[in-house]
Amino acid sequence: MKLIQIIIRYLKYLIQAKGKYNLHSPFLYKIVSQVILANNTKDEREISRLRAQLNKNNNAITINDFGAGSVINESKQRKIKDIAKNSAKNSKFGMLLYRIVSYFKPKTIIEIGTSLGISTSYIAKANSNSKIYTLEGCGETIKIAEQNFAHLGLRNIEIIEGDFKNTLEKTISKIPKIDLAFIDGNHNKDATIKYFNLLIENMNENAILIFDDIHWSNDMEKAWEEIKESTKVTLTIDLFFVGLVFIDKKLSKENYIIRF
Ligand SMILES: C[S@@+](CC[C@H](N)C(=O)[O-])C[C@H]1O[C@@H](n2cnc3c(N)ncnc32)[C@H](O)[C@@H]1O
Repeated sequence: MKLIQIIIRYLKYLIQAKGKYNLHSPFLYKIVSQVILANNTKDEREISRLRAQLNKNNNAITINDFGAGSVINESKQRKIKDIAKNSAKNSKFGMLLYRIVSYFKPKTIIEIGTSLGISTSYIAKANSNSKIYTLEGCGETIKIAEQNFAHLGLRNIEIIEGDFKNTLEKTISKIPKIDLAFIDGNHNKDATIKYFNLLIENMNENAILIFDDIHWSNDMEKAWEEIKESTKVTLTIDLFFVGLVFIDKKLSKENYIIRF
């Protein structure tokens, strides 16, 4: 999608988005003030230091480019610093993941799209009692992610290598019911909806799903609309760059746009 379209969408988001003082739902107010807009910086420095090192790493690795429709288009050389700068969630969103995990304490977490393991590190650091299953198709990238997890002393992560179309269903069938899913790979509508449908059948009743890049393309906007409309979904929170999805039946079905 053209940059101008994303800017227009972002401006629309800013106009529509509510701050925490405009919320009537006590559950939502609590989540927004204590999790989304909270100011927790614990553990941030350690991961930021690692990110800074990766941002300067000039070594190149051979990556599998999955492209649209999860077909490996080609293998190509990319500098680690470029992957770190372009693929990883920034510190603001990394710390949001951290706070969500610290607050809700999900036991079983699945991440679709590890890359260098930056987002995985925020998730894993937030609660050493949770187990994170993270899926990635590029073997060379996984090697760097493993080094990063070792560097940060993270032992609650299992990496599953392979194309999501071969690994996701198999992984879900082997692990306990999921409490949190972070979907950050293969950003197209069909894949996103497929992952959503697979995940939702295997999640605990108060589980949370986090979708990355929900406004990144027309395709992803359509996927986000379909997810919001699903009868399995209750509360959704649109933070523009990510969308949070709650499936707890005790919550009323509402879609919020919150300024983040
Ligand atoms: C945006 S990056 C993940 C970034 C990471 N979550 C972070 O914030 O640090 C997406 C990753 O998904 C992987 N990927 C995309 N499509 C895939 C597929 N069909 N199967 C396996 N891996 C795939 C890419 O190799 C890439 O490393």
